[in-house]
Amino acid sequence: MSVTVIIGAQYGDEGKGKIVDMLSADADYVVRYNGGNNAGHTIVNEYGTLALHLIPSGIFYPQCKCIIGNGVVVDPESLLSEIEALRKLGIDVERRLKISTLAHLVMPWHIMRDQAQEKNRGAEKIGTTLRGIGPTITDKVSRSGLRVGDLLNKEYFTKRFRAAYEENTALLKALSSQNKVSWPEDLLAKYLRYAELLKPYIVNTQELLTDAINNDERIILEGAQGALLDIDFGTYPYVTSSATGSAAACQGSGIPPTKINKVIGVAKAYTTRVGEGPFPTEMNKETAKSIRETGKEYGATTGRPRRCGWLNIASLIEVIRINGISEIALTKLDVLSRHDPLPIGVSGDSPSESVSYINLPGWQKELKGITNFADLPPEAQNYVQFIEKQTGIKITYVSTGPGRDETIKIPY
Ligand code: GDP
Ligand code: IMO
Ligand code: MG
Repeated sequence: MSVTVIIGAQYGDEGKGKIVDMLSADADYVVRYNGGNNAGHTIVNEYGTLALHLIPSGIFYPQCKCIIGNGVVVDPESLLSEIEALRKLGIDVERRLKISTLAHLVMPWHIMRDQAQEKNRGAEKIGTTLRGIGPTITDKVSRSGLRVGDLLNKEYFTKRFRAAYEENTALLKALSSQNKVSWPEDLLAKYLRYAELLKPYIVNTQELLTDAINNDERIILEGAQGALLDIDFGTYPYVTSSATGSAAACQGSGIPPTKINKVIGVAKAYTTRVGEGPFPTEMNKETAKSIRETGKEYGATTGRPRRCGWLNIASLIEVIRINGISEIALTKLDVLSRHDPLPIGVSGDSPSESVSYINLPGWQKELKGITNFADLPPEAQNYVQFIEKQTGIKITYVSTGPGRDETIKIPY
């Protein structure tokens, strides 16, 4: 039996999609357990380049079943368009994708509330993806949300829908929202159509996963966002609305903590952040621009330019501790080529502390596509080993390009 949790160890966009796609070659299940279509997991493989938002990154392997777990919030429109895009590529989604009855639905009023709240925050805005994720989770917790499973019972869904509509109309008014749901009957009809389309996918996924564990199947739990965006341990209030760490993998899938075998933290060889909030190791504008262009650091969901910074070891150590990370997958090492020296933040994991840096020597060689550790220039090897030494955690994958095979695998 093997249950592996994959989490982002920074502010999201660490390359989780690439790593999960690669590991899915040997998986029976890949499960998304948190977030929603605020996530954008980019996969580069024989099908081309695709950003997945809700569908697990194991979908490209025919043996791999994919589950959208109870902890995910699902925008049906976004999900259906993703299913359609994959179908067009000839991927059999219908037979392999299952969605938890317990996952909550993102409704149009959630997106409107997200927009209105961000506008009202003015200069204090969070810089959300405006996908309605925060308000959907707010309603989940306040027990007025609608769940995917509700779609299976027209009468019950209609009753819940009407109550939620009333509540949200008042909320949108209170927020001085420029948008409101004008035609609830049309919207209800639209959701009942989604219900028909999604019906074949909706099941009790906890049960499926319990069976999978009992049958010794290999399961990957694919996290969204990153540890520093966690609602508790992240840079509050500049965070997402859910838990993003390894503990969320259990709550968001129904797999108990005692069944988890390892936690792989995916970290970029540097750091990026989309949206507002503290960023202790942020680079100066010029260096950030250069890294952004080389690393194509633009949001996979919103297209926003990502802020760029140096690696922050102090913060990584804290993230490893809180999440029990047992291995690191280090991505985008290729992007650092030709930058010399390479500063690494070694103290100052909180916004109030100033950072001190250690400068490591850079290298002049392109690393793209290298698959053997010994083929890395000594300075790049040193960079990887420095991180291992400082964190005390083994780096088992070094990614040297976006493609599935552009990876150095280092046996544990
Ligand atoms: P995720 O949200 O953690 O899955 O990451 P994103 O997909 O949002 O962002 C990571 C970006 O980096 C994507 O465009 C990937 O294709 C790309 N990527 C992943 N690993 C590497 C790598 O090792 N080198 C380079 N150059 N690009 C990479
Ligand atoms: P993946 O899974 C990077 C950020 C937003 C914003 C904050 C709150 O691709 O790594 P939200 O819409 O969630 O309420 O926005 O969180 N954010 C992400 N940043 N990668 C993500 O996902 C993110 N999901 C949310 O930019 O700062
Ligand atoms: Mg992303």
